[in-house]
Amino acid sequence: MSLIPPAPERAVAPVGAAAEPVVATEPAAPEAAPAAGPAPVKALGRLPRHLAIIMDGNGRWAEQRGLPRHAGHAAGAKAVNRTVRACRELGIEVLTLYAFSEQNWARPEDEVEALMQLLHDYVHDERFEILNNGIRLTTIGDVDRLPRWVSGPLRALCAESAKNEGMLLALALSYGGREEVLRSVQALAREVAAGRLAPEAIDEAALARGLYTAQWPDPDLVVRTSGEARLSNFLLWQSAYAELYFTDVAWPDFQPAHLDEALRHYARRERRFGKTGAQLREEAPC
Ligand code: FPP
Repeated sequence: MSLIPPAPERAVAPVGAAAEPVVATEPAAPEAAPAAGPAPVKALGRLPRHLAIIMDGNGRWAEQRGLPRHAGHAAGAKAVNRTVRACRELGIEVLTLYAFSEQNWARPEDEVEALMQLLHDYVHDERFEILNNGIRLTTIGDVDRLPRWVSGPLRALCAESAKNEGMLLALALSYGGREEVLRSVQALAREVAAGRLAPEAIDEAALARGLYTAQWPDPDLVVRTSGEARLSNFLLWQSAYAELYFTDVAWPDFQPAHLDEALRHYARRERRFGKTGAQLREEAPC
């Protein structure tokens, strides 16, 4: 049975631009509420089309509780389930989760093994949730580097869910933003070397076509949990104009209320894409 209602039509397309990163220093709590309570975040009419999340703090969360790091990742996997469900209910079009970076291969073998097991279990345990709720699962990154017992079922579920149109859920696995840009540049260089492409024809669109995310809107909002304020090689090209939101909440503690707070922050931002506020107001439809 489907637990999640169909995604609603988006009321207003996000207005778009680069703004100051904001660090939420308090654990995100619901905003000071007027007597009747705040309007639901959906009703604000300015949700990000593409939300990208750097799920940080699993290890520290576990260490603070005297638990092994893999217990933090296991608790993080539960936060993944909550967040995917909440985003689907809200009608987010694309949700990209940074689940395993190219650089994470350098972690201790037992931690890498535990993360691979969690991924495997995620694909197994969430299969019905994904298929029954119109979620299309996909990956970005060098998935060939994952062990077969993980990449096999993962690819199978990506294929099985490929026709779903409710929400695109992209897991960044063995992913690095610089590596992704290099991959695209190398493909373009091969085209030039073969005489099929003039160097002058290489523009932003040509480079973007070689990225994993070629068919998707760029992230409008990048959220990072656990108090660090950096991108750590995540969607470097695509995040050029993303709003950045940092919260002290550790990923395993991340709840739909924290997501709500991040989305309210986003809805308040004026995204200018290099223009002035006055220009944007002139261009806005009456
Ligand atoms: C960063 O926390 C998190 C990761 C490297 C892994 C993220 C994985 C999950 C949330 C669970 C598995 C994913 C899915 C999709 C089922 P960290 O370990 O770097 O935390 P620390 O900075 O506190 O050490």
